[in-house]
Amino acid sequence: MFFKILRFFCFLFIGVVESAEKTTAPTILYSRQSPFGLIEVVTTNTRGLLGVCENEKYYPYQSMFMQGDATYLGLWYQPLATTSFCFVENFEKVLLLGIGAGDFLSYLLNYFPKTQVDVVEINHVMIDITKKFRAPKNTVNFINGDAFKHIARMKKSYDLIYCDIYFMKPFIAKEYKDFFVRVNNHLNQGGVFVWNAHIPFIPRGVVEDMFRNFENIVASITNDGENIVFLCYQGPQKTKQDLEIVAENVQKQHNFRYALPDVLQKFEFIPLADYETWITKFPVLS
Ligand SMILES: C[S@@+](CC[C@H](N)C(=O)[O-])C[C@H]1O[C@@H](n2cnc3c(N)ncnc32)[C@H](O)[C@@H]1O
Repeated sequence: MFFKILRFFCFLFIGVVESAEKTTAPTILYSRQSPFGLIEVVTTNTRGLLGVCENEKYYPYQSMFMQGDATYLGLWYQPLATTSFCFVENFEKVLLLGIGAGDFLSYLLNYFPKTQVDVVEINHVMIDITKKFRAPKNTVNFINGDAFKHIARMKKSYDLIYCDIYFMKPFIAKEYKDFFVRVNNHLNQGGVFVWNAHIPFIPRGVVEDMFRNFENIVASITNDGENIVFLCYQGPQKTKQDLEIVAENVQKQHNFRYALPDVLQKFEFIPLADYETWITKFPVLS
């Protein structure tokens, strides 16, 4: 009799655990094999917030987005990239290297609907997800390919080039060979290059190379210490005071969700003497 009661409670316990798992397990809204493994779009614990997962790893997400909300930027580093809006005078042509689930694309087009955007993304499934879930305008030109190879043979120039390419593994320094020279060659006058560098995965030598190739660099590290967003440009240096005025004016015109003057405050204007401090935050990798 005792064992029967024990067995009953065991079943009851397992049932409770299973149903608890069912309520927390994500619902898979999209699932497709890609050359880089299985890509899924899943629900998260926050209503409306969807996560993009690789190879059934349900946390951390490769990308996140709020369904039906064009201006939500969920990851720490994402609002930082919008600081480029006070560096660029003329937002006609933009190149995005790496699209994820299209957060930055969506934000950009929400405030600058006339901008022509070229996107280079290595994984065609990410392009498919962006098209299905974000419904970007037909004016966006999606190119399925490798950002490094594309930039080596590209002809066009841009006002903003934003590089946010990421896989769950460190880069090899040689992948970035000549990358910053090429970025420079394809920036219009007054243009800006934004680079989201995921600290554990970027070899120190690559960051050194970036510092060698740009006259002016500002940077911001995310609160979790995982990413540094660099903004790089050539020509006369813009002071923080100048940019604060621009940020106030541009904010008034566009009413950005992530207020430009606030985002700008998170950046440090790096004098030549302090380059080393930023470079040594990155690991020495081959
Ligand atoms: C973190 S996501 C980009 C997020 C995006 N900035 C946004 O606002 O949502 C990184 C993307 O880079 C892509 N990627 C990785 N390596 C690449 C490469 N060599 N060329 C082009 N895309 C690449 C990945 O497939 C992934 O979609």
